[in-house]
Amino acid sequence: MPSPINHGAYMNHLLITGGCGFIGANFIRYLLSEADFDGEIINVDKLTYAGNAENLMGIEQAFPGRYHFLKADICDRSAMAEVFDRFKIDAVCNFAAESHVDRSIDAPGVFIETNIVGTFVLLEQARKHSDRLTLFHHVSTDEVYGTLGKEGLFTENTGYRPNSPYSASKAASDHLVRAYGKTYGLPVTISNCSNNYGPYQFPEKLIPLMILNAVAGDPLPVYGDGLNVRDWLFVEDHCRAVWEIMKRGNRGETYNIGGACEKQNIEIVGTICDLLDEMVPRPGKNARRELIHFVKDRPGHDRRYAIDFSKLKQHLDWSPEESFESGIRKTIHWYLDNAAWVNRIRSGEYVSWIKQHYGG
Ligand code: NAD
Ligand code: DAU
Repeated sequence: MPSPINHGAYMNHLLITGGCGFIGANFIRYLLSEADFDGEIINVDKLTYAGNAENLMGIEQAFPGRYHFLKADICDRSAMAEVFDRFKIDAVCNFAAESHVDRSIDAPGVFIETNIVGTFVLLEQARKHSDRLTLFHHVSTDEVYGTLGKEGLFTENTGYRPNSPYSASKAASDHLVRAYGKTYGLPVTISNCSNNYGPYQFPEKLIPLMILNAVAGDPLPVYGDGLNVRDWLFVEDHCRAVWEIMKRGNRGETYNIGGACEKQNIEIVGTICDLLDEMVPRPGKNARRELIHFVKDRPGHDRRYAIDFSKLKQHLDWSPEESFESGIRKTIHWYLDNAAWVNRIRSGEYVSWIKQHYGG
């Protein structure tokens, strides 16, 4: 059963970490523009390579007094103490993380720092201010469960078997959040979600990378045999799910979020090629599928993810609304319509833009 109280009404000073990243930026836009949220948002983001303040351009002006941005590292104990004191934080939604599996294989250290130590630093602040804390929501991933064979789905009771430094660091952070709930009675919730796609995703992830390479006529590198399966969810559906859990999810519990949309990587890449051939034809050139080439597999590459989200559906009446067919078209259109955003990211220009606006 869902919590009988709508806790959303008690979140007056909501700390959102990692709000300049892909999902965090979509979440902040959703909360301020669409959701039944009346409080203030304090967005703390370190602005790593993946954080782009431009993703929230105009938000401060559009919602005067309701959005505050601070460039800070969640691992910085004194900075986080100051944020909790100064803004009287009464709820937390923790998106901040190093999020890319391939990068975690090349350089795991920063994943341990941000994903584990950073979450610990936030939990300690939450514990210190537990008298006024309504919720600590932790945004996590289905990758903590490891990999599936041909059959079955991840449920909330599936054991944790993470296979990459990224997923192991997220698993550790989930355990810390759960333990703070049990040991100190902190009001915590955790969500474990499948692969997201949509506007503002950094073009190192499969879908935006393939869209931009295919537009440019560059090679499309598919790992291994291309038959690995992911369960795709449009980012706005994820945002809706997180907010429902924050408002009415049972404290101390975990909720799986998924798209009921299993697809092999090769199918995704082929679909992107076909849609781009239709939307941006290349007269006299070969079909974009010919840009696909198979490359060395990712070490420890999980074979299949698929989510059972029946708990979320039954308790909180949530289901995905966007179909993959419409979501992927919207996403491709967004990348085609936002060439300036793409060019600034691909040229590294946004880093100088951030320095100019926020220093560092
Ligand atoms: P992202 O990489 O696009 O954004 C991460 C954000 O966190 C960036 O703005 C970055 O600057 C910020 N950040 C990184 N280190 C920080 C630090 N030390 N202090 C403060 N800010 C820091 O990631 P995303 O895809 O938006 O994912 C957000 C969250 O959702 C992550 O926790 C991720 O594990 C989880 N998640 C992602 C997906 C997905 O498909 N992308 C699916 C399930 C769960
Ligand atoms: O499942 C949720 C997770 O989804 C999130 O927790 C992660 O933050 C997010 O990055 C994502 O992880 P994946 O590793 O599944 O996503 P990625 O986009 O990197 O890769 C998707 C699939 O595509 C995966 O099987 C690897 C493959 N791939 C990826 C890239 C970048 C390729 O074949 N070629 C590529 O160039």
